[in-house]
Amino acid sequence: MLVSAKEMLQKAKAGHYAVGQFNINNLEWTKAILQTAQELNSPVILGVSEGAGKYMTGYKTVVGMVNGMMEELNITVPVALHLDHGSYEGCLKCIEAGFSSIMFDGSHYPIEENVAKTTELVKITAEKGMSLEAEVGSIGGEEDGVIGKGECADPKECKAIADLGVTMLAAGIGNIHGKYPDNWEGLSFETLDAIQQLTGDMPLVLHGGTGIPEDMIKKAISLGVAKINVNTECQLAFADATRKYIEAGKDLEGKGFDPRKLLAPGAEAIKATVKEKMELFGSVGKA
Ligand code: 13P
Repeated sequence: MLVSAKEMLQKAKAGHYAVGQFNINNLEWTKAILQTAQELNSPVILGVSEGAGKYMTGYKTVVGMVNGMMEELNITVPVALHLDHGSYEGCLKCIEAGFSSIMFDGSHYPIEENVAKTTELVKITAEKGMSLEAEVGSIGGEEDGVIGKGECADPKECKAIADLGVTMLAAGIGNIHGKYPDNWEGLSFETLDAIQQLTGDMPLVLHGGTGIPEDMIKKAISLGVAKINVNTECQLAFADATRKYIEAGKDLEGKGFDPRKLLAPGAEAIKATVKEKMELFGSVGKA
């Protein structure tokens, strides 16, 4: 059964490790992540962006697939199914469809509006026993070819949102989605430290986990990060393994064109990436 991310993240924060959120795109992705979490006895959060939800034909399909897979694969570790960067409407749809966790990304609104909409969702998710992630300070990334420098959140605004009763808080600390540019200045630990001092026990979320050096990940965890999101890195690993399979002409050997064979190296590559991250984040054996 799907669970809220609350308990796993509070345990992670207290135990000084982080739980990975791995974004899913299809059946292969979901299966690879769930199997790895079970094998390593690690809690896990499956992230679904609004775009990925649409691609998989809708949130109800995603809920059906994940619930069915957990039963058929005998997954017993804690799994949260989480909407990633949701709009207000997207959050309502996921609550209705049976997700166990949502992120409302109101970072692009003026702080008053972010507070008002987050407050509404705190009420609804509390009634349903779901977890809610809020965001302060937008997280940069490549948009129309322009790479934004990750914004740093205002710690006082972080406290204002944390005090509304959200489960976990994403704050911009110079992180961006996708690959980091060569001239990236790194994470702002000064900002992270100031946010943690004001928000106390609140589990903090680090977006843009792809390509952040290991020492920075460890330092971020020591300063209160309890959830780390990874998406692009699994996509790159999948694409790389699939390209190698095709370039080696394996799809032309025997029944190598069978999708169950063609997609297998990519799925194995996702498993290896997820394993590496769970070991780095320290969530192995923490289910
Ligand atoms: P990356 O794609 O950079 O790993 O970021 C993932 C993320 O933060 C999803 O919200």
